[in-house]
Formats: sequence, C-alpha cells, structure tokens
Amino acid sequence: MEYKNILLTMEGELGILTINRPKALNALNIETLQEIQMGIQEVKGNPALKVLILTGAGEKAFVAGADITEMRGMNSIEALSFSRLGHLTLKMIQDLDRPVIAAVNGFALGGGTEIAVACDFIYASENARFGVPEVTLGIFPGFGGTQRLPRLIGKGRAKELIFSGKMVNAQEALQMGIVNKVFPLTSLMAETKKAAAQIAGNGSIGVRLAKMVIDAGFNMDLTEACSLESYAFSIGFTTEDQKEGMTAFIEKRKPNFKGK
Ligand code: CAA
Repeated sequence: MEYKNILLTMEGELGILTINRPKALNALNIETLQEIQMGIQEVKGNPALKVLILTGAGEKAFVAGADITEMRGMNSIEALSFSRLGHLTLKMIQDLDRPVIAAVNGFALGGGTEIAVACDFIYASENARFGVPEVTLGIFPGFGGTQRLPRLIGKGRAKELIFSGKMVNAQEALQMGIVNKVFPLTSLMAETKKAAAQIAGNGSIGVRLAKMVIDAGFNMDLTEACSLESYAFSIGFTTEDQKEGMTAFIEKRKPNFKGK
C-alpha cells in the first residue's frame, strides 16, 4: 500500500511503522492519523508479523504532537472529531493483537507522548524529550494524555507534567516509568529490533494472550482479573505451541513455535 505520511516496512517477523513528516517534526495531522489506522489494519492482516515497532522519521523528533497548523482553525465540533480520530487511532495501536514497541527517537510532545504511551512499552534515545505542553497552547491533552499517563506513572506525576507543560529528558522519563530503556540514538533501532526479535521468537499465542489479559485486567478488580487470567491460561493449553514449548524443554532443545 502507498502512503504519504507514514512508511510501513517489514523485516521478517518485524513490522516498522515510521511516522514520516520530518518537515513538521512528524506532527499528527488528520491524514497521518488516518494512514496510521490503515497501517495498523495492514499489520493486522499480515499474520507473519509478530511485533510492530513505531518510530518517527529523522533524528530530531518522534512526533512533535498533533498538527498545530491544522488544529488552529478548528471549531469545537471539529476538535471533537479530531480528538476522537486520535483516540480511535491510539486504541487501534493499543488493541493490536501483537506487541507494539515505541522507539522514541527525539521529541515526543503532546500527541507524541500520547501515541508512545498507547504502545506496549517505550525505548528511547538519549536525545528524546517527553512532555504534554498543550496547556502552553491554551488547550489540554486530547489524545488520551489525561487518562493513559496517570495510569502509567500515577496521578501526581501526570498532573505535574500536564499542568506545567514542561518537558522531561530521557533519563527523567526513565525514572518516572514512562520509558523502559534509554540508548544512544545510533543504537536505538538496533536495540529495539533486538528486543522485538526476542519477543517474536516466543510462542506468539502466549504473547498475544498475555497482552490481552494485562490490558483487559488492568481496570478490573483483582479477583475478576485473576479469573480472566485463568481462563486465558487454559486457552494456551489448546495450542500446538504449548505442546511444543514444554516438549522442547523436556527434550532440552529449542522450541519451534508455529503460532498455532
Ligand atoms: N504541529 C505542526 N508543526 C509543527 C509542530 C506541531 N506540533 N511541531 C513542530 N512543527 C513544525 C514547526 O512549525 C516548524 O515548521 P517550519 O519549519 O515550517 O517553521 C518545524 O516543525 C520545525 O520546528 P521548530 O522550528 O519549532 O523546531 P525547534 O527545534 O525550534 O523546536 C520543538 C522543536 C520544541 C519540538 C517545537 O517545534 C515545538 O514546541 N513544537 C510543538 C510541540 C507541541 O506543542 N506539541 C503539542 C501539540 S498539541 C497536541 O498534541 C494536542 C493533543 O493532545 C492531541
């Protein structure tokens, strides 16, 4: 499929979706959000892809937010539909039945932090900067920042970031729990691909079920969530991968998972 604002490349079992508007620091306009949705659909339709990496083109920015030039003239109805488009796009990323790793290679501001936080986890380069500066524009986060950030880092830290609009660097983001690991920019993609390849080598049904249970269980009470885990755990025992994984362990060899 031909895209104008994103690149979708496949490297074996890894998909790489690159937001590609470097002149606007990969800002998210309506067309880009729509293309991200199409890209996610394309990944969904390709069972060979086991893990998706989301990154930004160039060396300066991951995503510098929603496109301010496009937003400036919006009325409230248009803003509602823009926010809903952003939410739907991020939910498609969050709900993709495969892990999505954000490789944050520079500024991740506003919608940039929000889209990164919708991924399963984040690796960042040393030059990455996170923040939700919407209040400096007279608005506040509209792609899930008021909801996913508090769930990830706690209400107090999220409120401090959102109310102040200040940026934090990669090390601060690591300490706050926004980011899992920080690498030099030159090795960010290689390290992210290494982590993705390790995940891709595991039983893919187990990985998918784990993602589903973690996300679905997160907002349930613990008893219900643990019950959900038990049912999903039992589904794992209907698969060839479970037989193969355990047999390979007993036979002291590497498993050959088929995703079945
Ligand atoms: N929207 C549209 N264009 C953007 C943009 C954005 N979010 N961020 C950067 N750009 C454009 C700039 O306008 C500039 O374009 P021109 O060359 O045509 O002038 C180009 O990208 C390069 O940017 P700068 O010259 O500003 O680069 P810099 O190095 O001086 O600063 C920056 C980098 C600190 C990231 C700065 O660009 C910046 O502050 N950007 C905006 C960040 C922001 O406020 N994001 C939140 C947006 S609102 C939002 O996301 C709402 C929501 O929750 C959904």
